[in-house]
Amino acid sequence: MASFKTLDDINVSGKAVLLRVDFNVPMQDGHVADATRIERSLPTIVELAEAGARVVVASHMGRPGGRRIRDLSLEPVARELTARLKGRPVIFAEDCIGPVPQQAVATMTDGDILVLENLRFHAGEESNDMEFASSLARLADIYVDDAFSAAHRAHASVEAVTHILPSAAGRLMQAELESLDAALGNPKRPVAAVIGGAKVSSKLNLLGNLVEKTEVLAIGGGMANTFLHAIGIDVGTSLCEHEMAGHARTLLDKAKAAECKVVLPTDALVEAELAAGAEVKVVPIKRVPKDRMILDVGPKTAEDICRQIESCHTLIWNGPLGCFEVPPFDTGTNTVARKVAELTRAGGLFSVAGGGDTLAALAHAGVSDDFSYLSTAGGAFLEWLKGKPLPGVAALERAAADFPG
Ligand code: 3PG
Ligand code: MG
Repeated sequence: MASFKTLDDINVSGKAVLLRVDFNVPMQDGHVADATRIERSLPTIVELAEAGARVVVASHMGRPGGRRIRDLSLEPVARELTARLKGRPVIFAEDCIGPVPQQAVATMTDGDILVLENLRFHAGEESNDMEFASSLARLADIYVDDAFSAAHRAHASVEAVTHILPSAAGRLMQAELESLDAALGNPKRPVAAVIGGAKVSSKLNLLGNLVEKTEVLAIGGGMANTFLHAIGIDVGTSLCEHEMAGHARTLLDKAKAAECKVVLPTDALVEAELAAGAEVKVVPIKRVPKDRMILDVGPKTAEDICRQIESCHTLIWNGPLGCFEVPPFDTGTNTVARKVAELTRAGGLFSVAGGGDTLAALAHAGVSDDFSYLSTAGGAFLEWLKGKPLPGVAALERAAADFPG
């Protein structure tokens, strides 16, 4: 793994630290609906505060496009953070640059925490503007990045700022990078990937990278239908990207050349429409009725995938295998997820999951606590699976060389 600084390499006592987190959390009626990302950055915030830093917390929320949008204020998030920090005072600044946060920082004492207003209220954030980054940097002596889930964005608070301030990774960023390295960078082999979700088109590069890096690639979800169609199987009225058949065949050839075993569904749960409590109809994959759609992998397929995973030491999971939100089409995902949980608990498997719907599907299967590592990242996890350097990570590596010592 390339090298970047961590909190072990910097002295923050008596310093102001600009801490980039990803508090882009789901909101409902003005309240934080899921505080996972806040919780996962708490260790970094507390460690910095306890080490005597003045902690200036910065994040984006939503996509306001450079305008101030009331519903995308980070004030409710600051309140949630206060509740979770149990007694540590948190101040909120109604802007992220200029006199308002500057005055707030001036009143802070060591160990205090300040939350800045949404970075994306200024267009300079997303355009990676140096002047905007300088205004942010003026608030602090050191920069710490704990926002792996925003590391795929070359934005000012992620990239440009690392050219100005000495920079290090926070504990969450560090944990994400170490886990992902153990899963794909430098894994214990054999490695299996379980990839689901709706569309092949959105995951083409990712699948191309995985066939080179894994021994087993199990494909489920809507995207499996495109592969089935590509090898001449009639998928009825299933979601299917017919125009992607050529790409799917190329990927299968690439997998063969790389000696990656691709596991496609051999049976499926089918229905005329997606409805809860539907009577389960299992059909062999070559007998999908013309007027039915595939809504989950069948029991034989789930068993095949489980058997393949049993012989692996590392597993990467992204995307559900079926329409897990509507039982019984959660059966395939639940079966495989519980197998991964069991193997992980037994100590033989290192398992990592992330991206999009994945964590919701695993929570639904009741296995959230049993995977080795759950990434907080959506888009960044998918970008990372493609095998390309993420701008935010590259920035930390470059900064470690620019600011040695
Ligand atoms: C995310 O939730 O994926 C990150 O916070 C990045 O948000 P973005 O997709 O709006 O850049
Ligand atoms: Mg996103």
